[in-house]
Amino acid sequence: MKQVLFVNCCIRRELSRTKELADAALAALGTRDDIAVTELCLMDEPLQYFSEGFFAQRERLLAAKELDHPRFRYAHQFAEADAIVIAAPFWDLAFPALLKVYIENVSVEGITFGCNASGCSGICRAERMLFLTTRGGSYDGAPDEMGARYLEALCGFFGIPRFDCVAADGLDLGLRPVEEILAEAKAKAAALAATL
Ligand SMILES: Cc1cc2nc3c(=O)[nH]c(=O)nc-3n(C[C@H](O)[C@H](O)[C@H](O)COP(=O)(O)O)c2cc1C
Repeated sequence: MKQVLFVNCCIRRELSRTKELADAALAALGTRDDIAVTELCLMDEPLQYFSEGFFAQRERLLAAKELDHPRFRYAHQFAEADAIVIAAPFWDLAFPALLKVYIENVSVEGITFGCNASGCSGICRAERMLFLTTRGGSYDGAPDEMGARYLEALCGFFGIPRFDCVAADGLDLGLRPVEEILAEAKAKAAALAATL
């Protein structure tokens, strides 16, 4: 059974167009009997950013190689997934800070990446990451889009060979009906999810 980790960062929850896009991918995954999906809803998690004490604790645990500490559970879960689906809206040219805080917690030497004299390399099991997003403006391929580009680079760092992004672009521009743009993106998301 393939384990898919669904990281839900759709802050507006059921009002979120990104969640609607993610639901199309999840529905496609739901038709497969070789896949088990675990949802991690970031809005419901006690995630902490690295303030002084929390950072210092991490340094102590890493120095002592205590990688089984509960604070590293997000990193273990991420590293052990066979595929990862992330859904997050486009905020401030990237994605919500909540997702960055999650990534900070997931990025742990010895769990998601390893380092030696010749450098660092990823040690995650996943072969694929599928990133689903919706954007107010149109940013496809634009250099100031830093959400998908960041996550693609992160896949390189974590050793995840394939990254795909489906974006419903221009939802707040009023140039095309929102439902039409979303329907196209949902079809793409479902098709890609079927190949995970
Ligand atoms: C805090 C915030 C920041 C945003 N920043 C951008 C932005 O930088 N560029 C853009 O095109 N749209 C931006 N938007 C619009 C969202 O990308 C767009 O409405 C998206 O579809 C929202 O997704 P959701 O329905 O899943 O919440 C922003 C929206 C919010 C609430």
